[in-house]
Amino acid sequence: MRIPEHKIDEIRAAADILDVVSGFVRLKKAGRNYTGLCPFHREKTPSFNVNPERGIFKCFGCGKGGNVFTFLMEIEHISFLDAVDMLAERYGIALERQGGPSKETREEIEAMYEANRLAARFFYDTLQGERGKKGREYFASRDWNANTQRVFGLGFAQDDWHAFLHFAREKGLSEDVLEATGLIIRKETGNTYDRFRNRVVFPIISVGKKVLGFGARALGADEHPKYLNSPESPVYNKSRILYGLAQAHPAIREKDAVILVEGYADVLSLYQAGVQNVVATSGTALTPEQVRLLARYTHNLFFLYDADSAGLNAMLRGIDVILEEDCDSRIVQLPAGEDPDSFVRRHGAEGVRTTLEQAVSFVDFITDRFRDEGQLETPEGKTQVIHRIVDLVARMDDPIRREFYIHHVAEKYGIYETVLYRELDRELKSRGRKREAAPPPEVYREHPAEILSEGEMPKEEKRFCQLLLLAPSALQSEVLSHIRIGYFHDTRMQQFLHVLLEQQEHEGAIDIDALWGYVDDDVAMHNLLADMLMEPLRPISDWSQKQTVTPTDERRVLLDAYKNVVGRTLEHHANTLQQRTRKADDPELLQRFVELQRLIKINWAGIRAFEDIPEFDTEEL
Ligand code: CTP
Ligand code: MN
Repeated sequence: MRIPEHKIDEIRAAADILDVVSGFVRLKKAGRNYTGLCPFHREKTPSFNVNPERGIFKCFGCGKGGNVFTFLMEIEHISFLDAVDMLAERYGIALERQGGPSKETREEIEAMYEANRLAARFFYDTLQGERGKKGREYFASRDWNANTQRVFGLGFAQDDWHAFLHFAREKGLSEDVLEATGLIIRKETGNTYDRFRNRVVFPIISVGKKVLGFGARALGADEHPKYLNSPESPVYNKSRILYGLAQAHPAIREKDAVILVEGYADVLSLYQAGVQNVVATSGTALTPEQVRLLARYTHNLFFLYDADSAGLNAMLRGIDVILEEDCDSRIVQLPAGEDPDSFVRRHGAEGVRTTLEQAVSFVDFITDRFRDEGQLETPEGKTQVIHRIVDLVARMDDPIRREFYIHHVAEKYGIYETVLYRELDRELKSRGRKREAAPPPEVYREHPAEILSEGEMPKEEKRFCQLLLLAPSALQSEVLSHIRIGYFHDTRMQQFLHVLLEQQEHEGAIDIDALWGYVDDDVAMHNLLADMLMEPLRPISDWSQKQTVTPTDERRVLLDAYKNVVGRTLEHHANTLQQRTRKADDPELLQRFVELQRLIKINWAGIRAFEDIPEFDTEEL
């Protein structure tokens, strides 16, 4: 479903960020900006800023920032497209979509949601009414009380071939729509009947409160299948569904963590016991879509699975996606024979919390498994383990996280850090080559010289980019043609520079307002852009303390800023090389190190032009 770029621009231009934000935050004018209490974190003094001129917001407390789309995405927990939709509607801009569902299909989809909504209502009323005795008995046997039944909209489908069908006909629902949702089944003879019969019903509800489909459980232990689910349809897509998310998302956000379980029953029992940040993957491996959905609320995933679970293996297969989405996952294995449902019954919410505190990181989980299998005892086994771990670590975007895990694994399992880093470099390099559409190969991928705290970026790099954004157009294009992205350490900064280069190439110039079009729904980039535009530039006297900056100085100021970036990177490389030469006696490394030292000591102050900055191949390290 694509919305044309110019439409997005039009909506962004039409939307008044003050108007939108004011719906959530009380704003006060303060100079060019408006300030208020940040809606994304708790605070007593306002550090949340809106700049209506640029159409951006930025909180200096928690760091969130972006444009009007970002704001809605973050505050309503919706996707980029939903935010675009919402604003289009609000500002009366018609959206004609390219290749999206036609108006007819959209109406059909709405009709399916409506059918599901009425069905959920019908099953719920049945459960609570005189025909619901068997259902109520079942729920009583599992201890799911009236409140849980209400919150999750649990229901009962009576033992009758046409109960729902008759109800639906009365309501005037189309049988085609009912069939499309899977609520009824059409035989070859053309006769129709109810899909769900003599089962308790679990409606699956989206965060937007739409009923997507149903899971229906047989009452008896020996009835098959145990669960009958809605078939795939335009409204029910198993890989995008997380059972319980509609109920759990406030708690997930509040706790900044989500507990993943396998089954409906696990969700209900945990939730009822007071552990409410819980969702179920419903017996399938975690999909990329599901991870992305969760990542809107939290990046901390806890897997609470049965000890003997096939689900655990499925989870391990999903670990790649989790890492790529920059989520952190921990694993709790329950005692043999227990699932979260039985565990919480036995040990209560407190017991669950205690086990969660003992959760191990996925790296430890996997390594422990290998160790238990005796793999760390042989050289071959060890090599394999290193491969597997490095393969995982290489999927992390954040160099600081990578370093953390490398360090941790080295220490805990007695593997040389240098060995792990060498493998990591190799792995990253091969990935760089494999990624065709991705940034050019000179991208620098070392671990950082200094440990920056989460979200912090090297200040030299940020300063340079800010100056570049504010520079006159001719200077921008000149500078862009000379800088080496490989000299930038921060991956977001690299990405940002790629965006600038792309725009320069496409449009022949940098246009700040149009930059948003290049970063579309990339929240991290929204953040960065707002960050650069909103934060007042530190006095330029950082570089040239004596004079104030006149236009002719701009080139020099930028050049100096760039020298700082390069200098920091070279020093960092030198440090790394030094460490390595200490650990491994490699003449080649030593030679590189000497070369680098020489470079660091040249007369940097004498360099007057971007093209005179020496090149050093960071990639070969
Ligand atoms: N599942 C399914 N179809 C089945 C069996 C299982 O769709 N025939 C899915 C359901 O979403 C179920 C999950 O896999 O919730 C986990 O299965 P299981 O542990 O068997 O179910 P529970 O939810 O734990 O149900 P109960 O405790 O009632 O046995
Ligand atoms: Mn169970």
